[in-house]
Amino acid sequence: MEQIKAELAGQVATLLEGVAAEGIATMMEYPPNEEMGDISLPCFKLSRQLRKSPQAISSELKDSLMAKSAELNGLIGRIEAESGYLNFYVDKGGLANWTIRSILQAGERYGAQTIGTGQTVVIDYSSPNIAKPFHIGHLRSTVIGNALYRIYSFLGYQVIGINHLGDWGTQFGKLIVAFQHWGEVAKLEEAPIDELLRLYIKFHAEADGYPELEEEARAWFVRMEQGDEEALRLWRWFVEISMDEFQKIYDLLGVHFDHVTGESFYNDRTTPVIQELKDKGLLEVDEGARLVRLDAYGMAPALMLKKDGSTLYHTRDVAAALYRKEAYRFDKAIYVTDYSQSLHFQQWFKVVELMGYDWSKDLVHVPFGRVSLEGASLSTRKGNVVKLDDLLQQAIFKAREIIESKNPGLDQKDEVARQVGIGAVIFNDLTGNRIKDISFSWKDALSFEGETGPYVQYTHVRACSLLRKVDEQREGIQAILGSEAKAYFDCLTQKAEFEVIKQLSLFPETIRQAAEKMEPSLLSRGLIDLAQAFNRFYRECSVLVDDAAVRSARLALVWCVQVTLQSGLHLVGLEAPERM
Ligand code: ARG
Repeated sequence: MEQIKAELAGQVATLLEGVAAEGIATMMEYPPNEEMGDISLPCFKLSRQLRKSPQAISSELKDSLMAKSAELNGLIGRIEAESGYLNFYVDKGGLANWTIRSILQAGERYGAQTIGTGQTVVIDYSSPNIAKPFHIGHLRSTVIGNALYRIYSFLGYQVIGINHLGDWGTQFGKLIVAFQHWGEVAKLEEAPIDELLRLYIKFHAEADGYPELEEEARAWFVRMEQGDEEALRLWRWFVEISMDEFQKIYDLLGVHFDHVTGESFYNDRTTPVIQELKDKGLLEVDEGARLVRLDAYGMAPALMLKKDGSTLYHTRDVAAALYRKEAYRFDKAIYVTDYSQSLHFQQWFKVVELMGYDWSKDLVHVPFGRVSLEGASLSTRKGNVVKLDDLLQQAIFKAREIIESKNPGLDQKDEVARQVGIGAVIFNDLTGNRIKDISFSWKDALSFEGETGPYVQYTHVRACSLLRKVDEQREGIQAILGSEAKAYFDCLTQKAEFEVIKQLSLFPETIRQAAEKMEPSLLSRGLIDLAQAFNRFYRECSVLVDDAAVRSARLALVWCVQVTLQSGLHLVGLEAPERM
């Protein structure tokens, strides 16, 4: 579709003076329903420049294009000018041949591209805080970051995934204090996340009445920064037991990082940053604290050192960026967090710019909406949290129950239940634009019907079982696919067939757009559309018909859908079981 669009845009551009083909291509749309064409040019977007009404532009373009129909042969079946829109109806048989042949050739690499070759992208995602729970906000960061990781890799970029663990900061001082007053070793070893959360909440509840507790906590953090062995011993222990728990979650999700370098990794790299800021005349002393003024840019100052000399989140982020540039020579560094941290990123991106690094323009914050819990905001301090582990286990449990009732004879039920349950949770985080706030509901996260991950997985299973049936009948799907060069697919022109082909043909472009806009939900949306089109096809067209030509063409189509769904699911972070 994309290539046809480019070709059409080129043709249109030759007919209009002073309008570039790329400009036309970006104006073009895929209309929501087929009566309006497969590709459409809204001519009102040109009317200012051309000083003509959209109606006049569209009908003149139509006539001129029809006159050179030879060039468009095989691409376009029909052109219409309708209320200021120029609507193109692609040649169904031509698109079928083209699309299916490309997929047969590329297989699971269909849609893979080379636009990223030679470029490195660093993605900082997940990054939960040790002393606080891994909550559903972090789950979103993990899911979005992981999908971006896979999508960028598919486009040829070298991708480096970093978990910037929150393993340093004043919260550890609080935790140490809470542990000494109210902690229990046994509990902490048995259920570290729960116990750390309990201590965290307890600390804040108590500190309301006893402000001295805050003082005590600050003092412990200063000791940590000064390398005090006792403070560090407790800190190390908290980090270790938490990481063990986090790792279980990452394993369930199938998420992997190239580097788990938390904030503490930059401890000995913050001093040179402070020195550099000082040397460059950027640091100002304000009531004992050191900061970089950003008034000129309409922002509050970026605090770099506290009165007591301890470092801050900002300081460690600047140090981390300098380190990453040096170590990975990135072309782009992406940070995935909710939008409440937007100011934080703007501030320290600006600090890096003021330090004179022109690559500060390659630092990108990818914000996403906040998650509230059935209306109420999530507050760690008040203990209003959804425990991730609970969520994942419940999802798996529910998937297992459904399998038990629908397909009790299935092999490897536990494995499939995990793939499907986790798939539901991951996909749920990728529906809708990432910037939208989400009201978390157990019901939605655990839904397997409608526009969900399990629905796409199930559609993939359906395609697999059809292909299996053919293989079992020894008709040999491979033989059919092998004769690809000779096969013609232009008999696939029925409405339902064409819809599937159209969706398949959009896949490569969708992947690229998901990367450009850093919006994996575009891809999950595309998968839903493809799955829906395929299910309609499955209901309306029998595949195993007597006519050999139609049968092999349809089988090839099924095969194309299967590989595309499989790779698409992988790209957004889901597994694609073959049976369920
Ligand atoms: N740990 C932070 C949080 O939970 C997120 C860290 C994001 N990454 C970064 N380099 N600041 O809010």
